Amino acid sequence: MTVRAILITVIGLLAGAVAALIFVSRPQLPSTGQQSTSTGQALIGGPFSLTSTAGETVTEKTYLGRPMLVYFGFTHCPDICPSGLQIIAAAIDSLGANASKFTPLFITLDPERDTGPKLAEYLKSFHSRIVGLTGSPEAIAAATKAYRVYAKKVVSETTAGDYTVDHSGFMYLMDARGKFVTHFPHNVGAETLAAALTTATADF
Ligand code: NI
Repeated sequence: MTVRAILITVIGLLAGAVAALIFVSRPQLPSTGQQSTSTGQALIGGPFSLTSTAGETVTEKTYLGRPMLVYFGFTHCPDICPSGLQIIAAAIDSLGANASKFTPLFITLDPERDTGPKLAEYLKSFHSRIVGLTGSPEAIAAATKAYRVYAKKVVSETTAGDYTVDHSGFMYLMDARGKFVTHFPHNVGAETLAAALTTATADF
């Protein structure tokens, strides 16, 4: 791991801890008959309007009706994204026919370079079922914000015009109504992920 990769992992873990803390520490309203609207699950996820690798506009509504596994990254990522995508691919394979009961999404954090065709070509090497989404920088920024993903463009100090994107690397499991269920680190075990996906898709 590079220093940067370690830093990203630490930032990611901290972000996860904060998210978990917020989730756990949501005050339980006393049962005074008052209806609570706070579930703690609205913190991660939300509306997005992005572009499929085929150039079609898609929104969160496109994928309603079955669980989603949402993962953000970019095709130039040296290690975190590929390892996470390999784990997602392994989990898809271990689900067999049930893999069609959820949608694995890979949303780019680098819309400047990750065009639809580029993204499609990249994802093909991991698994044909992984759906790549790109969009305008504004649309990607909105999706990133909705999922509380940390992402920052870092210009190369050695190669003119080159840059990388520092980012957190969580996978977000959303239910069939688009509500947050749980998240996994990018290096979650494929068996752990497959088990969670099996549970999530059991009712379908
Ligand atoms: Ni990455």
